[in-house]
Amino acid sequence: MKGIILAGGAGSRMYPISQLYSKQLTLIYDKPLIYYPVSILMLGGIKDILIISNEETIPFYKKLFGDGSGLGLKIEYALQSAPNGIAESFILGADFIGKDGATLILGDNIFYGKLDFFLKALERTRGATVFGYRVTDPERYGIVEFDVSGKAISIEEKPSKPKSDYAVPGLYVYDNSVVEISKNLKPSPRGELEITDVNMEYLKRGELNVEIISRGVAWLDTGTPESLLQASNFFGAIEDRQGLKVACLEEIALHMDFIGMKEFENVISDMPKCAYREYLQKIFTDRNK
Ligand code: TTP
Repeated sequence: MKGIILAGGAGSRMYPISQLYSKQLTLIYDKPLIYYPVSILMLGGIKDILIISNEETIPFYKKLFGDGSGLGLKIEYALQSAPNGIAESFILGADFIGKDGATLILGDNIFYGKLDFFLKALERTRGATVFGYRVTDPERYGIVEFDVSGKAISIEEKPSKPKSDYAVPGLYVYDNSVVEISKNLKPSPRGELEITDVNMEYLKRGELNVEIISRGVAWLDTGTPESLLQASNFFGAIEDRQGLKVACLEEIALHMDFIGMKEFENVISDMPKCAYREYLQKIFTDRNK
């Protein structure tokens, strides 16, 4: 399974700061937003990751992650010249995906909690899995409709009269057909290659699975200044209470055995003196006891 993070976009709702840098570089409490989607792919055991973004932002991601080897990952980069839609990821990433399946996560999507829903989807070798998450403002999202037996029967993008309260978050797990399906898409009236059209095609083929994400999981949307502040406060409260960090990529790399203690120590030694380094240093010391 290959992983793709789509982390470009216009970020117009983040104006004026969007004139300077991408929202995915903004701090969510103590680390850049993009760390959170990277952490989800890593926790799913995905080591081959393609980050897609615009010309201005790719150099910043390269500065943060390089080729990913420090985290035991293989990270590549691809340019999306304009925000032509989420489904363009699979056209830009076709060579990277090769003959594998592809999991896509949007660079501004954060999940926190037990990831069973995601791990279950990764076990499937055929078809597509999208997720359903209950929200109070379904008009803003892609919304999935179910029949009485709980089977998905439609997905509508930003419906004015939503047929359910279940939004489809920006995390999608596909088999290899996603490349061919995306290549055959036509742009929507708003001029984008729509991810909902990809999911509708899987639905037509009888190969779309929808996993409901339970209420114990937080899915945070981070498109606006208000939602960024809420996310920062949320993770600030959790990290402060537990003394454990969320989406600390070096810790996850060690936990997933993507790197060993020697590499972990090397990564720490390159960091300036700061709370983030002290946190990792404590993990190192505790493990050596
Ligand atoms: P959106 O929230 O739809 O758009 P945006 O980030 O450009 O913000 P705004 O609506 O304020 O202009 O995008 C969701 C995520 O997907 C975000 O991480 C950006 C990314 N994205 C791309 O990288 N390319 C695209 O073509 C689109 C549509 C989104």
